[in-house]
Amino acid sequence: MAYLQIDHVGISFSRGGVTTEVLRDVNLRIEPGEYVSIIGHSGCGKSTLLNIVAGLLRASLGGVLLEGREVNAPGPDRAVVFQNHSLLPWLTCARMSGSPSTRCSAPGSRAPSGANGSSTISAWCA
Ligand SMILES: Nc1ncnc2c1ncn2[C@@H]1O[C@H](COP(=O)(O)OP(=O)(O)O)[C@@H](O)[C@H]1O
Ligand SMILES: [Mg+2]
Repeated sequence: MAYLQIDHVGISFSRGGVTTEVLRDVNLRIEPGEYVSIIGHSGCGKSTLLNIVAGLLRASLGGVLLEGREVNAPGPDRAVVFQNHSLLPWLTCARMSGSPSTRCSAPGSRAPSGANGSSTISAWCA
């Protein structure tokens, strides 16, 4: 049993009467300690796949197992650092990936060291 198993995952999106197949028959097994990069051109489905692993999207076909248990909702055992609006531009990638407690301080608190200017964190962390 793999630590994380992506098993025959497929997903389609329907919009305006048009259905687009974004992922088909994606299979991947990841063991503890493995560091895996998913590389592909923009729009090929990388974020969609991560969102399925995170439990934010349901696969149309197949599924994801984490330690043998089916992923069907978000959980504290998985984390996603989103692109764009959710990034804290004053943090390095490593610090962005750190625990929420290091990233989210009380409303009105100053940004951590390395921050640019005097931005407050409160606007970013609900
Ligand atoms: N919620 C959605 N509804 C309709 N189409 C979507 C949705 N999410 C993603 N897509 C489409 O799925 C494709 C893959 O998107 P995405 O996973 O964001 O690609 P990547 O992360 O590889 O750039 C794109 O064509 C995108 O427009
Ligand atoms: Mg993406």
